[in-house]
Amino acid sequence: GRDVARRVADLTLDVPDFPQPGIMFKDLTPLFASGPDFAATVDTIVAHYGRDTFDVVAGIEARGFMIAAAVAYATGVGVVPVRKVGKLPRQTLRQTYALEYGEATLELHADAFMNGQRVLVVDDVLATGGTAEATLNLVEQAGGVVAGFTVLLELAFLKGRERLKPRSVHALLTV
Ligand code: PRP
Ligand code: MG
Repeated sequence: GRDVARRVADLTLDVPDFPQPGIMFKDLTPLFASGPDFAATVDTIVAHYGRDTFDVVAGIEARGFMIAAAVAYATGVGVVPVRKVGKLPRQTLRQTYALEYGEATLELHADAFMNGQRVLVVDDVLATGGTAEATLNLVEQAGGVVAGFTVLLELAFLKGRERLKPRSVHALLTV
């Protein structure tokens, strides 16, 4: 818990004015690049939820993919991609949302989940919550039940968590 939060803090680099002036980009690539810290991160997520609380993991393109795949592998479940528009080949559900910088659309295969399947949704950062809100809506529209939403880093000043209430949000580190 505390220890991993500290490692997330230490291995997150603040990059000012990326990708636009006024945005402080949180670069977690050093955390991903460190084997022991990446493993501890994944293990902490698995320990938080336990092994029998979800049936499948959904990862949000692009930075959520790496964590989602690792959590799925560690727990022996499958992984489903939530993708930027135009990437998934079959029938999809779509949600457009406002980003801190710009606007985006996410897609999910309409048949991604069996009805009532418990889905753990994984991403790297919770900022304004637009990405998460769109994704949780997509999961529910597809018949999934959101078992949880977990991120490595939550930026509390952007109040994303408030937007997701009453859904449960877990962050390894909140700043
Ligand atoms: C970033 C980050 C989260 C999202 C958080 O993704 O990885 O997914 O923004 O922001 P929000 O809470 O304000 O919606 P981005 O859209 O930049 O794309 P990427 O993961 O493909 O780099
Ligand atoms: Mg992202």
